[in-house]
Amino acid sequence: MRKPVIAGNWKLFKKSSEAVDLVMGLAPLVKATAGVEIIVAPVFTVLTTVKQALAGSNIMLAAQDCFWEEEGAFTGEISPGMLADAGCSHVIIGHSERRQYFGETDATVNRKIKAALTAELSVLFCIGETLAERESEKTFEILRTQVTDGLAGLTKEQLGNIIVAYEPVWAIGTGKTATDEQAQEAHTFIRRLVAELFDHPTADAIRILYGGSVKPENIKGLMAQTDIDGALVGGASLKADSFAALVNFGK
Ligand code: PGA
Repeated sequence: MRKPVIAGNWKLFKKSSEAVDLVMGLAPLVKATAGVEIIVAPVFTVLTTVKQALAGSNIMLAAQDCFWEEEGAFTGEISPGMLADAGCSHVIIGHSERRQYFGETDATVNRKIKAALTAELSVLFCIGETLAERESEKTFEILRTQVTDGLAGLTKEQLGNIIVAYEPVWAIGTGKTATDEQAQEAHTFIRRLVAELFDHPTADAIRILYGGSVKPENIKGLMAQTDIDGALVGGASLKADSFAALVNFGK
């Protein structure tokens, strides 16, 4: 049995007081929820503040990106060890917005994943095709490259600390969710690919989250799919009640 994960990617939102208000509102609403891993990913500057606000809760902390070097003359970067030091247990790597606007490639994603694992962070590894790629029937080819290159050189033991997030770019922030069937089809493909690249037990154990306009209205249908193990949520994670409704999808 794979434990579901519901992760909130706050993107470039929430200054410290807003961030604290959000987790203070959220924590009591999900306190009694067992059997779901709950993660929030604020901006770097509020990580330590949010960590303090999360004390005693069942909510874990993630960063939205990291660099691959641990320290050095790399102005403006943050290393995985520094994120762990700030209280993060997880880091998002390869989000499509980083690929689209900040030059992230499968090769840099791979370096970042390795560095994050070395710092004992778990990784939310994001992949997904654009609309043009889907329309030209390149979805599976793109996913194959992203998974193969992103996870290159990792051991199957290391895969235990990877959570994949399948996020079709055309569904992010657009209100256009993939249908349950489209999402399930992609997730099955990814799981089979992990079996091919690693082995069957690794593929059976890895959590694959769906992301892209996940809301309280569509979470149940997505979670009912056999290969969907949770959600990476942007917009609906910015309010305590909607994010709690997602965490409590099973209730
Ligand atoms: P969205 O974002 O839920 O606002 O579509 C998802 C994501 O980018 O992780």
